[in-house]
Amino acid sequence: MSEPKDRSVTPSLGTEEGSGTASGKVIILGEHAVVHGCAAIAVSLGRGARARVRPLHQADSANTKEGVAHGDRITLSDQSVQGGEALLDALRAARAVFALGPVELELSLDLPAGSGLGASAALGGATARALAQLVGLTPHDPLVAQATDAWEEVFHGNASGVDRAAALGEGALLFIRGQAPIPLALRVPLQLVIAVAGPPASTKTMVESVMRLRQSNRIQFDKNLAALGALVDNAKICLRTGDLSSLGQLINLAQMVLAGWMLSTDSIELACRTARSAGALGAKLTGAGGGGCIVALSPSDAMSAKIESALSEQGFDTFSTEVGASPQATCEHHDHHE
Ligand code: PMV
Repeated sequence: MSEPKDRSVTPSLGTEEGSGTASGKVIILGEHAVVHGCAAIAVSLGRGARARVRPLHQADSANTKEGVAHGDRITLSDQSVQGGEALLDALRAARAVFALGPVELELSLDLPAGSGLGASAALGGATARALAQLVGLTPHDPLVAQATDAWEEVFHGNASGVDRAAALGEGALLFIRGQAPIPLALRVPLQLVIAVAGPPASTKTMVESVMRLRQSNRIQFDKNLAALGALVDNAKICLRTGDLSSLGQLINLAQMVLAGWMLSTDSIELACRTARSAGALGAKLTGAGGGGCIVALSPSDAMSAKIESALSEQGFDTFSTEVGASPQATCEHHDHHE
């Protein structure tokens, strides 16, 4: 891609520095199926990424290797964030949406990277919001979503957009590819325990492997897709009515379908079993699979601590999160609006 020098501008309307944050996410149900047009339910996490940008003038950017190649400079506060050239490409794609020239970008991440928690979209969303501030736009400007998609495109090729929706959103949401995310109301809070159940796997590779399954047996694939779609439909009812035990069962069923798509691993199965034995209502891989995280639905805050400690005993890193209830909205929320 050539540098959009003719269109790029040094910001004049905004500030001389922009900052932004965006969230990580947990997919409760519907990963992979969402790539193929089914609905997914995701929640935004209270942790994610932070970005700070400032415009680089030509003299600044000529000093570094990156500067020569791309005109941009990226500083990572955490070495678990990798990406090298791809990160520079993603930044260039995002800033092109705002017609901006080279920038210096500082990134920090408060999530395990490449583990199904939407780290890449969180970094992209935070960067897009920082760039937006630089040109005087709000964090909710439509260009922010566009720039986050441009960033994600570099890493994932065929991203559904659910990670972006959760990165820029809050609470629980229903997402269908190509449509605006719909906030989901919860009658009761969701207590989630997350465990890192294996080394990171590439989302692109896992999405491609599911695509190959689709090509090799379309009839079987479509049956599984319909099953995952039905789980999401039922989960919407569970969220609305506060029926967490049934939601847990739907989560366990989803894990079986995802394992049938070869997305599970021994480590993921062990983590799911451990969480269930310790009292989780349901547990499944979350995100691309092939490694990465599991999510377990806990019946209570106190039980989350027990589930976390059982997982830690097995050597898994864990954390818990609560997604707050919004009962008012629940009463106003009807299926046909979803
Ligand atoms: O592993 P993550 O956080 O990139 O999540 C990927 C979710 C998928 O459904 C597998 C891909 C997508 O683009 O929706």
